[in-house]
Amino acid sequence: MSAILEMPKKVVEGLGTVNVLPELLLENGIRSAGVISDPAVIHLDCVEKVLARIEESGCSVRIYDRIYGEPDFESINRLCGSEALRGCGAVLAFGGGSVIDTAKLYCAIAVNPEFARSPENPALIEKKGLPLFAVPTTAGTGAEATPNAILYHRQKKQKMGIVSRKMIADTVILDGEMTAGLPKALAASTGFDALSHAMESFVSKKANPYSDMFALEAMRLIFKSLVPACRDNLADARQDMLLASFYAGVCLVTASTHVVHAMAYPLAEEYHVPHGKGIAALLVPGMEEIRKSAGERMEHIASHCLIKENGACPKDGAGRLITAMRDIQQELGMDCGLAQFGVKAEDCGRMAEKALENRRLFDNCPADLCLADVERIYRGMLS
Ligand SMILES: [Fe+2]
Repeated sequence: MSAILEMPKKVVEGLGTVNVLPELLLENGIRSAGVISDPAVIHLDCVEKVLARIEESGCSVRIYDRIYGEPDFESINRLCGSEALRGCGAVLAFGGGSVIDTAKLYCAIAVNPEFARSPENPALIEKKGLPLFAVPTTAGTGAEATPNAILYHRQKKQKMGIVSRKMIADTVILDGEMTAGLPKALAASTGFDALSHAMESFVSKKANPYSDMFALEAMRLIFKSLVPACRDNLADARQDMLLASFYAGVCLVTASTHVVHAMAYPLAEEYHVPHGKGIAALLVPGMEEIRKSAGERMEHIASHCLIKENGACPKDGAGRLITAMRDIQQELGMDCGLAQFGVKAEDCGRMAEKALENRRLFDNCPADLCLADVERIYRGMLS
């Protein structure tokens, strides 16, 4: 089996590294930068300060901060119709996955205007888009590492994955100072999203040497640092989580997620469950269901990532892995039941059918799950 590794060209990692942005822009000859962000992030002290420094360095800054959720046709039209970023030589995205996905689509449209007419068709992205500098302010989606953008079709109530390697960010800055103000619950659920990217990739049928390397290191960092990052807001732990989220993004591109992410789609589309929350709820029952088929790979994860007793590999590694995830959820006070989202027992069959329609993901699952299996997973999560 062959595997291709495609990543951003430059990745800068470390606390305080957002401050290299003015220098990077000058290095690249960019004299006019457009900023895409959301109304909360744009007023973070560290964002305001670095934007001021960029302007002081002689590069003009224009801001579009009206991103309120994941991109849909209407929000992309509004952004493209706005004069706010017209003529900018590069885009700086400060935000979580929705902001970075919007910025990827905007950069592609700015150079390939015909793509704006059918943003569901990535074949219309013929040329590389505007230079994109992505600065994630959550640690989980991995959007800064991938060629994907999720586009929501409001009328069809459907999420579409738009994929083009021409949308991969050029430069990524992973600065743990950017996630200092993240609410604990959001940091916890997005952390589980990153864990799911790495774990599903590691047991995926498409797992390969590249994805294994990134996935194992992502999981080791998450098991070590998710709790101190969320509970104690420790800077080093937050930095670990940003790095883990990036690594997990890299591995999902080449190996793919499957059962957990496919099952999260109906929750998001029908019940508007935020992506990270849905994944946090589904990861443990999803991995339990495929344990028979993925047991050996799960043992491998446990021996690499969990604290060993007396230096020995843990016995029943797959079971220990499940327990370790439950312990983290308990420690962080995460409610992972489906009832909180209004899901009822009679909805589970319909959701299972919808989840299984996503063959693009399910085909990568190491276990051959049928409708009854998927419905049983949903039902088991009701309480
Ligand atoms: Fe995800």
